[in-house]
Amino acid sequence: MNSSPTVVRGYDRLAPWYDPLATVYSGGRIAACHRTIAEQLTPGERALFVGAGNGRDAAAAARRGVIPTLLDLSPGMLARATRKVRESGIEPTIVARDVREFHCARDPRDPSTPPPFDAVVASFFLNVFRTDELPDLIAHLATLVGSGGRIWIADFAPPRGGGLSRLGQRIYHDCPMRAFGALTGNAIHPIHDLRPEFERTGITLASTTTHRVFGVGPRWLEVLEGVVG
Ligand SMILES: C[S@@+](CC[C@H](N)C(=O)[O-])C[C@H]1O[C@@H](n2cnc3c(N)ncnc32)[C@H](O)[C@@H]1O
Repeated sequence: MNSSPTVVRGYDRLAPWYDPLATVYSGGRIAACHRTIAEQLTPGERALFVGAGNGRDAAAAARRGVIPTLLDLSPGMLARATRKVRESGIEPTIVARDVREFHCARDPRDPSTPPPFDAVVASFFLNVFRTDELPDLIAHLATLVGSGGRIWIADFAPPRGGGLSRLGQRIYHDCPMRAFGALTGNAIHPIHDLRPEFERTGITLASTTTHRVFGVGPRWLEVLEGVVG
């Protein structure tokens, strides 16, 4: 099995197409996941959007008074996200870096690194990585918020229901994963279940919101809110 870290490329080329493709693929429900997060963030809190992409969730949050930092590897994605957030009259902080190399100060007297955030948002980000990479990634995200800070994750819901439903869910998940695998080097993996990873990292699951694909289909998309212990 490949054990080197997943490093994507090519999101710059995809940037103009990413949101329209997501809208067609989910019937607008990926955007609904973004809104779910934006509506539950508290105005005034400092939120780090990792793998910010085109910044739909960050822009919706900024309109509500959240102070956003956008982090992404792709300059093309970051440029679009920045424009979108600026439209709400907020100037976001931009971090063009691999999240695994981004650290926050544990010691508030250390001026070289930023203080922890109130919230970290990872929308459709963790599915870029293999399942065996999740423990380190989630533990790292937890270090970016202080104790009591929140982690918001929008992603595919884990398999549920009978055999036919699971097969449909797998096909729904695997099609974009394989397409993005070919285009960007995204990892190829089974549908992630983030709950055990939360538990292992001492993150309490505070809420779950599920979304039906196309608004009327099965609940194959979800938003998890975790509180770091
Ligand atoms: C599937 S897109 C999700 C975009 C957006 N969050 C959304 O919900 O529409 C994944 C994003 O993660 C970024 N990305 C992938 N690996 C990364 C890494 N190691 N560090 C930071 N960003 C990364 C990609 O450039 C891309 O913009």
